[in-house]
Amino acid sequence: MSDEINVTLSNLLQEDRQFPPTPAFAAQANGKASLFDQAEHDRLGFWAEQARNLDWETDFTEVLDWSNAPFAKWFVGGKLNIAYNCVDRHVHAGHGDQVAIRFEGEPGDRRDITYRELMAEVSQAANALTELGVVAGDRVAIYLPMIPEATIAMLACARIGAIHSVVFAGFSAEALRSRIEDANAKLVITADGQNRRGSAMDLKSAVDEAVDASPSVENVLVVKRTGTDVTWHDRDVWWHDLVGRQSIDHTPEAFDAETPLFILYTSGTTGKPKGILHTSGGYLTQASYTHKMVFDLKPETDVYWCTADVGWVTGHSYIVYGPLANRVTQVIYEGTPDTPNKDRWWDIIERHGVTLLYTAPTAIRTFMKWGDHLPQSHDLSSLRLLGSVGEPINPEAWMWYREVIGGNRCPIVDTWWQTETGAMMIAPLPGVAACKPGSAMRALPGIGMAVVDQEGTPLGNGSGGFLVLTQPWPSMLRGIWGDNQRYVDTYWSRWPQYYFAGDGAKLDNDGALWLLGRVDDVMNVSGHRISTTEVESALVSHPEVAEAAVVGASDPTTGQGIVAFVILRGSTEDAGELIKELRNHVAREIGPIAKPRQVMIVQELPKTRSGKILRRLLQDVAEHRDVGDSTTLADPAVMKLISEGLASSSSDD
Ligand code: WTA
Repeated sequence: MSDEINVTLSNLLQEDRQFPPTPAFAAQANGKASLFDQAEHDRLGFWAEQARNLDWETDFTEVLDWSNAPFAKWFVGGKLNIAYNCVDRHVHAGHGDQVAIRFEGEPGDRRDITYRELMAEVSQAANALTELGVVAGDRVAIYLPMIPEATIAMLACARIGAIHSVVFAGFSAEALRSRIEDANAKLVITADGQNRRGSAMDLKSAVDEAVDASPSVENVLVVKRTGTDVTWHDRDVWWHDLVGRQSIDHTPEAFDAETPLFILYTSGTTGKPKGILHTSGGYLTQASYTHKMVFDLKPETDVYWCTADVGWVTGHSYIVYGPLANRVTQVIYEGTPDTPNKDRWWDIIERHGVTLLYTAPTAIRTFMKWGDHLPQSHDLSSLRLLGSVGEPINPEAWMWYREVIGGNRCPIVDTWWQTETGAMMIAPLPGVAACKPGSAMRALPGIGMAVVDQEGTPLGNGSGGFLVLTQPWPSMLRGIWGDNQRYVDTYWSRWPQYYFAGDGAKLDNDGALWLLGRVDDVMNVSGHRISTTEVESALVSHPEVAEAAVVGASDPTTGQGIVAFVILRGSTEDAGELIKELRNHVAREIGPIAKPRQVMIVQELPKTRSGKILRRLLQDVAEHRDVGDSTTLADPAVMKLISEGLASSSSDD
């Protein structure tokens, strides 16, 4: 393992360019170098100070209780209301007229929502949930496109202490159903449809299908977005009917700091997604602290845009909770970047005067491919800082982002974190770090990180190994919903004193961190985590498939692409047709993002004597490399068979 990591790294190590902030940027930055000293000197005192930037109804009596490790309690005894902190307190402080959300729909419709209006709508939605019988502790599934109601629904849940489980609206009915079932959700909030690439796509029928098979769901609350015809059931309620007639007054109740805030499902190394559980006080503390320091947010002047979807953790922490707690003005855009034209993003930045942009390497690489003339035909001079998240950003993409989008003047913050960490962990402070293209640099003040070898021994600079977190942190997951043993096994069993992130990493000679991708069976496709097992299970659920093995092969645009090797039960007349059918089958089972880039029909799979599939060898094939060491195979001839048989069966369409 470590060998593989070192090989990947050798080319990265040639990167010695450094980009310090301009003196002007450094002088005005929120985060100064002294933060590191302060956190080092008194870590818990440092976090207590960050927590006190929030409004607590009851102050906490203890910063961290780690006595029941790895189950943390942060800000023990404190009570607060998360929605109040994200909305009401700004209104009470005299900022009711500040625009919180500048929404832009894909068809071009616009809606500005001030903090006062947001407070009214969140209150109405909270009253509506209460009328539907939702009480603190109940689970609410949210399956919505990127419209303001997604944010409002999440905040309404938080306001009454209900736990939301947002399911990405690109996931299938079956993925939604299994998440509803795992969390036993009582209510689903959805829309009739969503605008994607110039047409209205139905959403409601997937919900109907999922809910028909979900006895726990009592109601479905439906936002009218596209006007698409929908089938109506007794359990369905229109958002505009129910929420529209509620009072705009709602008194927020303060909840314990450890009250669950949300569950968010993410892929692990087995076929069953894990419900990552986050709680309130620690989560909001770290989400808002990192948002303020890493994006250098100035609430009076900045216009922030995070291009993520609320279906992913980035949307939770850096569209909803962190930014709103910091009184941001932000753009929310519903649609795809190529509608109506491939310059839609640059058009949005120019028209809204976006100053801070947070996006993913896969998007950046796509725009590189589309050509410089598109961003260059717009005035992007409002931008002053750029962020990246979701996967390693290659130095070429980093430099392009800096030069073409940032006009060589904007610091780039490459932010490493996970659904599990809840907020950023490793990222440069833009007013301090001399950033290297492609490096996430170092752990943020207050965060303990190390790169260790197989034995868990911390490695020095110039070595590659496994990324671990050495100290509990406020926004850490508090467990896996309904399966605490899996939480312990997955993250805390390899080296019980450390949180195991599942990523390989290397510290260069200056101590800057380079992320090298996952070291487990989790793929990263366009910044989205998908487990190989999940796709394999979907494939073998097809009647014609006997066995399947899936690998993530490197892909110039999406980071990794999904390549599947399948053994059929019988023979097939038309391999091309079947391959198409299998790809669509996976899209139906999981969602279009999990559709394999390539399906190869093979006679055998490379297995060890104990039956474990050697994915490493399949990866060699998928990446068109010479196949590596296959001596541990039960039948060494298999790889030859696979390579030979491929020409006739692969499909890339
Ligand atoms: C990867 C997304 C390199 C990593 C916030 C991690 C990254 C997984 C970066 C979490 C980055 C995320 N550089 N790799 N800046 N950010 N990753 O849970 O493999 O969707 O473990 O959270 O994405 O993905 P998740």
